[in-house]
Amino acid sequence: MAVSMLWLGDSGCSSVLNMACISTGRLCARVERFCQFSHSIQVRKKTTIGSTKLIQFGFQPSSRSLTQGCQRLPTRTSVEATCGASTVWGGGGGGGFWRPLSVASAGPPPAVSNHAVNSHEADPDADPQTGKAVDPYRLLAEEMSTLFHDIRQELRKNTSKPELERISCYYFDGEGKALRPMVALLMARAINEHVHRHRPTVDRGLLPAQRQVAMIAEMIHTASLIHDDVIDQSDFRRGKPSVNALWEQKKVAMAGDFILAVASMMIARLRNNDVTIVLSQVVTDLVQGEFMQLGSKETENERFAHYLTKTYRKTASLIANSVKAVAMLSGADESMTELAFQYGRNLGLAFQLVDDLLDFVSSAAELGKPACADLQLGLATAPVLFACEKFPELNPMIMRRFSEPGDVEKAFDYVHRSHGLDQTRFLAKQHCAEAARLARSLSTSPYRSGLLTVCGLVLNRTK
Ligand code: FPP
Ligand code: MG
Repeated sequence: MAVSMLWLGDSGCSSVLNMACISTGRLCARVERFCQFSHSIQVRKKTTIGSTKLIQFGFQPSSRSLTQGCQRLPTRTSVEATCGASTVWGGGGGGGFWRPLSVASAGPPPAVSNHAVNSHEADPDADPQTGKAVDPYRLLAEEMSTLFHDIRQELRKNTSKPELERISCYYFDGEGKALRPMVALLMARAINEHVHRHRPTVDRGLLPAQRQVAMIAEMIHTASLIHDDVIDQSDFRRGKPSVNALWEQKKVAMAGDFILAVASMMIARLRNNDVTIVLSQVVTDLVQGEFMQLGSKETENERFAHYLTKTYRKTASLIANSVKAVAMLSGADESMTELAFQYGRNLGLAFQLVDDLLDFVSSAAELGKPACADLQLGLATAPVLFACEKFPELNPMIMRRFSEPGDVEKAFDYVHRSHGLDQTRFLAKQHCAEAARLARSLSTSPYRSGLLTVCGLVLNRTK
């Protein structure tokens, strides 16, 4: 079986066949060969921070990345070539990650970094004036700067309860990565450019309804995080106390519901049945994904299928369906809305794979949330599932959700002694490469370039 993995679960749409899917054992063997290739360019370094062993793949999480290591290859391949950007999200919990210094002024699209460090080829996605990759935060600075303000306004105008307002506004402080609204805005603008490319007189600007979808995506995401913090009993997020550390659980759960209710009203106001169905699917998926996380499967194959379906539902569905919704609003045909969906699905899967990897290699200070949390919550994510092939001793631990004394420490150690982290990264890289390939079929624009930059950011992020 080629590395084109086969699907073992439900991705929630017609794109099922494209879903990255895995027969763990065979994939491990295949992936291992690829990882051996990348091993030669990675200097593995073990560090001890407190009691947590960190393995850094030849990069300091806040300044360098695996992919940068890979860029030293003579020929750029797949994701390095397609994702380009060497900028990373990272550099310390809560704020401090890569962001523009100020709101961009109207002018040429600003740039972040050399797209092809060692290449003399012209890069079609670079800003023509600077030859550098487009910085999506700067490109969208104006829209993004008002987005959180507008969300807070929506919440405020729907309640007369000051405490409910405070709890529900707490995470809308502009300190998150804002990945979901950013991708929705980039896709909206890139698709508007593409759909109207032969009609120069048509206004290709962002539609108000598309901006609403970007806000709704962030609101659904935040509502789910608030509920998640209660479920996980986490007391730290984005470098500050989480909502449930500050307010009582019942109120926090209701604040999550409130955000979701306001987002639902905003969806209804769009008066577009197809968009309503697509965005409602997201909420169904989120709940089912979180529910799936409570269970585990007996066999390795079943477990990987379960993990991927859960990952799609818990993380990728929101990104995939919100970019699909903005494409639908632009009047794109079915093939274009499917392209948008697939871009979001691949990006979302990669995002969660990297998230699961960072849980093993980053510190809490770096993440702005508790590190090494998944094992402690009983969760077997991709690094553990891959590590099982080399260390079958992990199987009973997975089944008992790492509940016996010493399980968490042993599993952590096995993961680091296996290729589980490399294999997880490899899979994330495949999904980023696929997202970038899809974005490239849109007509050239700074927004398309932004969509490509995001693929690199997702892969290289350190928080
Ligand atoms: C973070 O997971 C959680 C999610 C991505 C989704 C959580 C979904 C629910 C709680 C279902 C309810 C949904 C709604 C819309 C109210 P994580 O714990 O892996 O990430 P973390 O480390 O950032 O906490
Ligand atoms: Mg959590």
